[in-house]
Amino acid sequence: MAERNRKENIVLFPFMAQGHIIPFLALALHIEQKKKYTITLVNTPLNIKKLRSSLPPNSSIRLLEIPFSSSDYGLPPNTENTDALPYHLVIHLIQASTSLKTSFKKLIENLIEQGDSPLCIIADIFFGWTASVAKDLNLFHAIFSGASGYGLACYYSIWMNLPHRNDVDSDEFYLPDFAEASRIHVTQLATSMREADGTDAWSIFHRKKNLLEWVNSDGILFNTVEEFDFVGLSYFKRKLGKPAWPIGPVLLSYKSQARVGKEGGTSSELCIEWLNTKPLNSVLYVSFGSMNTISASQMMQLAMGLETSGKNFIWVVRPPIGFDINSEFKANKWLPQGFEERIKGSRKGLLVHNWAPQVEILSHKSVSTFLSHCGWNSVLESLSHGVPIIGWAMAAEQFFNVKLLEEEMGVCVEVARGKSCEVRHEDIVQKIELVMNETQKGKEMRRKACHVMEMIKNAMKDEVGLIGSSVKALDDFFSAAMSMREKTKKEENPTA
Ligand SMILES: *[C@@H]1O[C@H](CO)[C@@H](O)[C@H](O)[C@H]1NC(C)=O
Ligand SMILES: *[C@@H]1O[C@H](CO)[C@@H](O)[C@H](O)[C@H]1NC(C)=O
Repeated sequence: MAERNRKENIVLFPFMAQGHIIPFLALALHIEQKKKYTITLVNTPLNIKKLRSSLPPNSSIRLLEIPFSSSDYGLPPNTENTDALPYHLVIHLIQASTSLKTSFKKLIENLIEQGDSPLCIIADIFFGWTASVAKDLNLFHAIFSGASGYGLACYYSIWMNLPHRNDVDSDEFYLPDFAEASRIHVTQLATSMREADGTDAWSIFHRKKNLLEWVNSDGILFNTVEEFDFVGLSYFKRKLGKPAWPIGPVLLSYKSQARVGKEGGTSSELCIEWLNTKPLNSVLYVSFGSMNTISASQMMQLAMGLETSGKNFIWVVRPPIGFDINSEFKANKWLPQGFEERIKGSRKGLLVHNWAPQVEILSHKSVSTFLSHCGWNSVLESLSHGVPIIGWAMAAEQFFNVKLLEEEMGVCVEVARGKSCEVRHEDIVQKIELVMNETQKGKEMRRKACHVMEMIKNAMKDEVGLIGSSVKALDDFFSAAMSMREKTKKEENPTA
């Protein structure tokens, strides 16, 4: 009986990038709220420091440091997060992270010695190598993906097979083990993927240190919903012969987002007051996430498109590519002549600098559509409020998210692809009108987005006699971890 009251310890270990740490923080807070477990978030010292200020004051989540010195790996001193790195150095931080294996193992061994043996280790999609550490120590291990099942399935399949290398004369290809994704075009590949040939640093990392190791894990947790992402989930069940648990959407609350975000510039109240003056379903919200920006010429075309469309919009602006993303935004330099004054005068548009209260905006009844980079967190936030999407993917698996949303789910239209493609403002206007006008396509997309919103609500239902698929998946995950612990205990102590 005493066993049952014991506070089980769950160890979470995200890769050192904001786009990975934030979903893990959301997961930690979600588990803390749902289950009375002890939660330990592990990371390098500077990331831990940042996490400390991101936690709510009453949180019981423990933070544990793992030593890391970036200058030992040819990285600039005190860089422990991809945020602080130019793109070409990101792979160096990824490579350096594999050297954390020894200290991570020691950290877990220390926990075991202190009688605080983890019930499970939940590690990042870049930390496949942690699975063998867990195996050595007889601990339950899972990978947590902040990406969609479908997006990650494409990502996994492309890295393991490099299918775009088979026929270099063609710009299109199929995935040999994930036919469900149909045709993929090379413009849907992030730079590192497109250039990969098996001998490059990214391929070597994924194929020798990371993805290859996933078979040693006990399964994958996905921040997604089974009802609309089952194709991607089934890929991993088939490929790894392990469970895939769809437990989402697990998202930060508005308060936590503000704590993590660099709040500044336009305040939340200003956004909400502005939205309050707009009619129902009349506003386009434009944001490329906190990590991305577009080129100077794309920015010019987007501004012209927004103005020509005549629709109301909130646009989270950041300096274009080539400028420090955190520097001051210069509207008179990067936007059409007089643009800011005109949209202020007509009250058609609101420019938000750096950080916007995204959840509050998406939940406002005046918002009709989201023009998004389709990072999975943004997608989940949009669909949780029934808001259809105009997709403009920037990096990583975002291109495949657009595919899922447009081809399978019908809640998105793609407007552009990547940070260097040519965009014309006329095309932007056409897509905005297609979704926001009372066209047949627009109505259908809004209807489908509302349907998905209902799916999400149902998946998260946690009432007596009414347990949603995501709640059940999290229960199943912990049951699996629990039964491995019982089994290990019996093996170690057969007479007990
Ligand atoms: C912390 O406080 C918030 C707001 O009062 C509450 O919703 C949450 O459950 C609390 N968390 C813990 C771990 O007590
Ligand atoms: C969308 O609505 C605007 C304003 O009513 C109109 O000018 C435009 O032609 C419409 N476009 C489409 C494709 O329906």
